[in-house]
Amino acid sequence: MTTPTVVVLGSFVVDLMCRTPHLPARGETVFGGPFKMGPGGKGSNQAVAAARAGASVTFITKLGKDEFGDMARRTFHQEGFPDRFIYESPTHETGAALIMVEDGTAENAITVSVGACNHITDAEVDAAESTIAKAKIFLTQLETNLSATYRGLAIAQRHKVPAVLNPAPVQPLAESAYVGLDYFTPNETEASKLSGIAVATAADADRAADVFLKRGVKNVLITLGAQGVYVKNAKLAQLIPAYNIGKPVDTTGAGDAFNGGFAAALAEGQDLLSAARFGCAVAGLSVTKVGTAPAMPRRADIDALMKKAAA
Ligand code: RIB
Repeated sequence: MTTPTVVVLGSFVVDLMCRTPHLPARGETVFGGPFKMGPGGKGSNQAVAAARAGASVTFITKLGKDEFGDMARRTFHQEGFPDRFIYESPTHETGAALIMVEDGTAENAITVSVGACNHITDAEVDAAESTIAKAKIFLTQLETNLSATYRGLAIAQRHKVPAVLNPAPVQPLAESAYVGLDYFTPNETEASKLSGIAVATAADADRAADVFLKRGVKNVLITLGAQGVYVKNAKLAQLIPAYNIGKPVDTTGAGDAFNGGFAAALAEGQDLLSAARFGCAVAGLSVTKVGTAPAMPRRADIDALMKKAAA
């Protein structure tokens, strides 16, 4: 098997999390559970998920010269990411995300202050061109400055490296971003905002997917939480059900787990539906643990879950 190399361009921020009996109303103060701090950011979470799923990952991001940046460097070292494209800002601090996770539902509300990784220059992305060109998959999101996202996608397209765009956090995209995009992976909220069609069910996802296909995307995968992922392209339309893992503990980062797992599976040559199934297994396992990057499962556990479900 050829090395499943994945290049991820994206954010690192430190997650500052506490559980809450309910998400506070405007002006309300709520007594929360114990506070936890750990590595996060959609880009970094996806890179960690891909690496633990078996890919050789190069991560492109930007940090501040501060303690949060040190946490990032320790995380990247543990996961085996080269430090070549971990840039450092002399002026901006590493970002942070304020996360509340609701006790009963395990659902969350997040405000992210992106910090240094919102300032990745074109030259910094261009420096990774030959590395992107050699990758099996290029994966990115919308949590860094959009100019860097677009630059990375253009490089991948120029070198015919299949690209996955996870449009999170959601924001309007240039029409040109959809044209020729290999894989587009919004969740139901992102799909609703970007398509103009309210997405809650597989039937809604089918209609929203058509909007993205018409704009030029080749494969649309709309993640639907506990329902699974709806996959559509010119030849197929199918709901891949989520894995039943019991009551979730913390759903934060489940989308990142899906994207990292999906990218790793594509990079090792799995076809679209198998890779989507693999991504669902990674997401299913991730919600059984607290946190984002620290909750990403290892390959042996992913394989074991898929084997058990197939038996
Ligand atoms: O997708 C979850 C991530 O979004 C968290 O780790 C947080 O950092 C936010 O950016």
